[in-house]
Amino acid sequence: MSANLNSSFRTKSVEQSIRDTEEPEHQLRKSLSAWDLMIFGVGVIIGTGIFVLTGIAARNNAGPATALSFVAAGVVCGLAALCYAEFASTVPVAGSAYTFSYASIGELPAWIIGWDLVLEFALGTAVVAVGWSGYVRHLMETNLGWELPTALAGPDAGGSFDLLAFLLVLALTAILVVGTKLSARITAIVVAIKVTVVLLVIVAGLFFIKAENYSPFIPPAQPQAESVSGWHAPLVQLMFGYEPTNFGVMGIFTAAALVFFAFIGFDVVATAAEETRNPQRDMPRGILGSLFVCTLLYVAVTLVVTGMQHYTQMSPTAPLAEAFKSVNQPFFAGAISLGAAVGLITVSMILLLGQTRVFFAMSRDGLLPRFFSVTHPKFRTPYRATILLGVAIAFLAGFTSLEKLAELVNIGTLFAFVVVALGVIILRRTRPDLHRSFRTPWVPVLPIVSIAASLWLMLNLPADTWLRFGIWMVVGIVVYYLYGRRHSRLGLGLEGPRGNVTTTPKQPPS
Ligand code: ALA
Repeated sequence: MSANLNSSFRTKSVEQSIRDTEEPEHQLRKSLSAWDLMIFGVGVIIGTGIFVLTGIAARNNAGPATALSFVAAGVVCGLAALCYAEFASTVPVAGSAYTFSYASIGELPAWIIGWDLVLEFALGTAVVAVGWSGYVRHLMETNLGWELPTALAGPDAGGSFDLLAFLLVLALTAILVVGTKLSARITAIVVAIKVTVVLLVIVAGLFFIKAENYSPFIPPAQPQAESVSGWHAPLVQLMFGYEPTNFGVMGIFTAAALVFFAFIGFDVVATAAEETRNPQRDMPRGILGSLFVCTLLYVAVTLVVTGMQHYTQMSPTAPLAEAFKSVNQPFFAGAISLGAAVGLITVSMILLLGQTRVFFAMSRDGLLPRFFSVTHPKFRTPYRATILLGVAIAFLAGFTSLEKLAELVNIGTLFAFVVVALGVIILRRTRPDLHRSFRTPWVPVLPIVSIAASLWLMLNLPADTWLRFGIWMVVGIVVYYLYGRRHSRLGLGLEGPRGNVTTTPKQPPS
């Protein structure tokens, strides 16, 4: 292997990652407890996935068996969560999968994963902001009779600029600049409203279930419409020469790859490790706890709504509210829409938080300009990165039609799962001495199963999503070789407090 390639795989020691967090100018406030993390988790996990995608998945891909798709996606996430929990409790440093990869596999893979997480969180924030804007417009129109001019309703609604989504992202940016603790408080209130709404759907909906709506539970496979075949067919179906189909057993997995979006967020909990008071104990609790609660709620909600309304009739935009409308319960429908509109705010905010923390970590390591990792003297937040990214995402949310981009979020996240699971196996071998307060069980078998399960869901995403993802990654590698590799603090030997040159030897390439 050439020296150049070797240096791309240099690793940053776990001890150095933790030391970097102690530099005063680059320090985050440690204020979060396990409870805060759980709330953060539930706050970001329950969102567009359950409120919107359930309808699309049931209608187009899996019928009532969408509940099984949620189970499949939940299992994939649970396996990955066990790997995340080990890493987060061993390397409690901002940056999540990025930091983990830097400590285990090397700088280039870490850069790739950081670049990938930027895609996941930035597009995720924008997707959810646009979904929120749709709900708010719907509420304003139906309850108050206010209608925004079409031009300001966003590309998805036939306009050109989504004013509400744009304003939401800017407001969230301001909140995050002022401080994580403040945003955690707002999150707690919103999460309470959101969970109440979800429980309301489950409990009230039970009374309106009709057994005939579950028949057939797994609708038979049928060929995809001409308009959605070709490049938009799941890659696995193209690879094995199937004629692309919907429904049937394959449809359950196609739907799982879509509703996977509903689980995104537990990994964001890991990005707050550095701001956690007792990460060794609280990270695993926060990550696994929030994931478990959400999986139970999703399966219950899906069973209820597909029991209330035949899957062929389900709404692709507001399936939960529409299910109650279909049984003449407009009050519940209104309450659900309101809860969704309120709930999506925290999802968007926490995705934005995760995004800024990854960017912060990459900048602190010199792979992106260091200017962005100086924290605010008073608020102790990475305000420069937050403002830069917040404004960029606000424009993205304002101008872009995001349907396709949502699938990119999924592929990016699943890719991160693969790298994290790989990192657990590697770090166990290279650093068996590290204290791990949470250990992933059955290493290497469980991480290998996790990798296989994530790859399987990735293969169930459309071929055009793979193409877009590939392009984003190639751009990222070019940026790394043009900037990150040359400015990497690890590469320059700049380590230790306040940028002093230390005599600490560089880590040998792994
Ligand atoms: N899991 C989040 C949602 O469903 C991203 O909106």
